[in-house]
Amino acid sequence: MAQEKKFIKFDYNYMMENYIGSEGITEKELVATKMLQKKAVISLKEDRVSNGNMLGWLDLPHNQKDVIRDILSTAKQIRKAEYFVVLGIGGSALGIMSLFQALCHLHHNELKRSKRKAPKFYVEDNIDPERMQALLDIIDLDKTVFNVITKSGSTSETISQFLIIMDMLKEKYGVNAKNHIIATTDETSGNLINIAKKEDLKTFYIPKDVGGRFSVISPVGLFPAAVLGMNIKDILRGCLDMEKSCRKANMFENMALASAVTQYIMYKKGKNISVMMPYADSLKLMADWYCQLWGESLGKAKNLYGETVNVGQTPVKAIGVTDQHSQIQLYTEGPYDKIVTFINVEEYRSKITIPGGYEEFPSVSFLSGHTLNELISSEKKATEYALMKNKRPNRTITLPAVNEYYLGQLMMLMMLETAYMGYFLEIDAFNQPGVEEGKNATYALLGRKGYEAKAKELRSSKPKSQRFIIE
Ligand code: PA5
Repeated sequence: MAQEKKFIKFDYNYMMENYIGSEGITEKELVATKMLQKKAVISLKEDRVSNGNMLGWLDLPHNQKDVIRDILSTAKQIRKAEYFVVLGIGGSALGIMSLFQALCHLHHNELKRSKRKAPKFYVEDNIDPERMQALLDIIDLDKTVFNVITKSGSTSETISQFLIIMDMLKEKYGVNAKNHIIATTDETSGNLINIAKKEDLKTFYIPKDVGGRFSVISPVGLFPAAVLGMNIKDILRGCLDMEKSCRKANMFENMALASAVTQYIMYKKGKNISVMMPYADSLKLMADWYCQLWGESLGKAKNLYGETVNVGQTPVKAIGVTDQHSQIQLYTEGPYDKIVTFINVEEYRSKITIPGGYEEFPSVSFLSGHTLNELISSEKKATEYALMKNKRPNRTITLPAVNEYYLGQLMMLMMLETAYMGYFLEIDAFNQPGVEEGKNATYALLGRKGYEAKAKELRSSKPKSQRFIIE
């Protein structure tokens, strides 16, 4: 890999007072976080080696040798299928969705098999019955392999999808149904592992100390990635290089720490919204993945000491240049409540030149001879400048290119930034009690055994008033 030693870049000039005046961060404010930085780096280091912490994702770049071998040999077979479908939701879906969009052709499923060189790919991360039916309408079961992914093994959405698919497979193939479905789940707990054993399904395991939204570099993301032909070793190499480079307790030498510190100071100054805006369609879903990571990890009611704090920054996704004609107006002139993170790409995988013509119209012909590449990067520069001029904090992550290695770096950077921010906020970034509440209420509504008390609580909740319903 020629570009292996290159690194993604993080530029936060336009977060600073020198550029955006009183809305910006002062040198003094940076210095004031020194102790916080040190504490966060030490805590991460200590928590990483003590049992029971959900920091297993930090070791995935180097501790999966046998898993990778298994993933690659299984993927080689599954690659021959015509359709490959992931059933999963949240952290069990978003990682591979973003890698798929970033690393496969943007119209992968429309390409001829000879160009695609991998199955058509679908991720079913919702239970909208119309969507499920639409999938069933286009796939051919004979040529399809499913990968059901759930860490807990009990998520109603994923298990329902699994039951529907398994029923169809069993009806058609009997005991050979197992040839069409692979499970990815916890090795010892949850329902899916028990079903997988009963049905003799090929199974990949999600380490106990790796939570859903941090699991993209476990078999959750890596197995589908390998089926799609991505170089999963390069993804892990990128992760490892980034992780190693982010161990120092000094934000000027640790990109993830710098990233978290700048978010933290801005959050304390009232910037409650964090916009992630890649200037690349291939990274659109990477913004979704990041939003889940940031939102679900940091939006918490209680801190580590049990006090009510209700913290968290609202993550918002946008896409350049498209949202320049939609959201940027708000970001430039609306409330001073957000920071914008751009993702910039140095070398796009295509280059297209705008042809000449219409010289008599100078406001058209000035575009001729330029490339779309020049246009998109000029627009990005122009937007960050306009935001800066209007005293709107913004920062830029630059990828030399969109490939496995740099995406590995980017994802590790974002996971580490989230972990550091969790330490700064003194909350548990790895649980999701708010999500569990909704899951439990669903179990109760559907009559699951053991949830009778929750069902009673729901039944006794105050009925809705007709006065506030218009028909
Ligand atoms: O990050 C998380 O923990 C969640 O988003 C989960 O990934 C999501 O709820 C799905 O859970 P599971 O993988 O257990 O089905």
